[in-house]
Amino acid sequence: MKLFLLLVLLGCGVRAQDTLDYDDYDADAKKAASTNASATVDARGHRPLVKGRELYMTNRYNPPTITGTGRYRGRPGSTTVTAPQEQEKVEQPESGGCTHAMEEMGVLCPNGCELKTMLLKQERNVKTSINELRPQVEDLSRASNNVLKYVSSMNNNLRERQRVMNENNNVVGQYTDRVEEQHAYIKDTVDTLLPSNIRVMQGVLEKIRQKIQRLEKAIQTQTKSCQEPCTTKCPIPVVSGKECEDIYRRGGLDSQMYLVRPDPLSPAYRVFCDQETQNGGWLVIQNRLDGSVDFGRRWDEYRRGFGNVAFDVGKGHCETPGEYWIGNDKISQISKLGPTELLVEMEDWSGAKVHAKYQQFTVQSDTTNYVLAVDVYSGTAGNCFLEGSTELFGINRTMTIHNGMMFSTYDRDNDNWNPGDPTKQCSREDGGGWWYNRCHSANPNGRYYIGGPYTKQMARHGTDDGVVWMNWKGSWYSLKAISMKIRPYFPPQ
Ligand SMILES: *[C@@H]1O[C@H](CO)[C@@H](O)[C@H](O)[C@H]1NC(C)=O
Ligand SMILES: *[C@@H]1O[C@H](CO)[C@@H](O)[C@H](O)[C@H]1NC(C)=O
Repeated sequence: MKLFLLLVLLGCGVRAQDTLDYDDYDADAKKAASTNASATVDARGHRPLVKGRELYMTNRYNPPTITGTGRYRGRPGSTTVTAPQEQEKVEQPESGGCTHAMEEMGVLCPNGCELKTMLLKQERNVKTSINELRPQVEDLSRASNNVLKYVSSMNNNLRERQRVMNENNNVVGQYTDRVEEQHAYIKDTVDTLLPSNIRVMQGVLEKIRQKIQRLEKAIQTQTKSCQEPCTTKCPIPVVSGKECEDIYRRGGLDSQMYLVRPDPLSPAYRVFCDQETQNGGWLVIQNRLDGSVDFGRRWDEYRRGFGNVAFDVGKGHCETPGEYWIGNDKISQISKLGPTELLVEMEDWSGAKVHAKYQQFTVQSDTTNYVLAVDVYSGTAGNCFLEGSTELFGINRTMTIHNGMMFSTYDRDNDNWNPGDPTKQCSREDGGGWWYNRCHSANPNGRYYIGGPYTKQMARHGTDDGVVWMNWKGSWYSLKAISMKIRPYFPPQ
């Protein structure tokens, strides 16, 4: 019983330590929804219509994709590619270790302060659960001491009985048998069950203590490194350009972090260029790979971008991409330079990989809430953006199409689920900012679940809020990695 209580306590502790901002914001809407029993929905991407009471409209004007042959001709032969790149060993100052001193240079790399916030959050929760655990463990060991005492007195009793028995064999025979039976039973219980329970408890406690120590050490390190302005160790390559295809054509053939400047009137910023996949030239606009960055963010953060563009793991340049969202303004700006293609690559927890490619991809500006337009699908992952979830039918499937949708975040609802109803907001339930319809078949910015399969009970709102691509793995599998990359479309040679 006590063991059970403890486990429940532990469970509560663990549940409480998730992102706070997203939750805080969410509490009111959740309360409102739970007061009305009819508000519960079957969570599989879509939100079915409540018969006779709801309307679902899809016929809103959506600007089409930009088409044509574009600004680029086919790639010139590799012989014309210019000399190998040098690296500029300039260290970029950062203000206070938390934001980059020059904002236009992009996102901090690596961002230790985000880790610090997370660690602090965790530490608070673990400490409470330990304090709750401690008296329980003490109770248990006290109880077991009492039982041990009782057993040893039983032992004495038994010895006494045996002595008496020797003298008085027949008379006490029956009684002794009973005492022996009881003794054996109690001794068994004490020897195996109780100590093992206590061992489990102590193990748990010890683990938590170690965890706290690790957290404290990490926090100390982070605090120290955030006290002084740190410098990113990522040298910015000399080669730069409008975007990654431009950089490729100028000789930037390595996949790493580069400085791009798509608009000569705006400052340059950092991006990760994938110069290998499908002939390179890809500018990474979204990347998930380890759950290190929280994607449950506000409108403004999705607008500007967040996360870590890249890391240097000891090679002297930033060749390891981090988790990030480049920012809706940037995505819109680049995609409107001309015809643009989109590549979505994903990987499950067994290492299997698939991709979805759209030959046309355009995102409108903030004045139209970044309406998404894609066309001409090819690939192996399934056409979620244009067709919706193939597990659903009729209007239910239509609800999960992303093409033509505006962008929504938990603080800015532009989705197609009863617009204007604050209790019906996809982004509040599905974990991230996205082009939600009513609601999704693909959810690349969703919550990161380690291991893949997750359940309704694990999801904060009982909805499929994981990193989902329904047409590959269904609603209840959260992908290990997913990335979105764009490149100017040019006709093949
Ligand atoms: C739930 O909300 C609907 C309107 O959306 C209302 O008609 C119904 O009476 C409510 N039910 C309860 C139990 O509050
Ligand atoms: C839509 O989904 C709801 C519940 O998920 C189901 O009852 C309904 O039959 C579905 N409609 C169609 C056309 O499949």
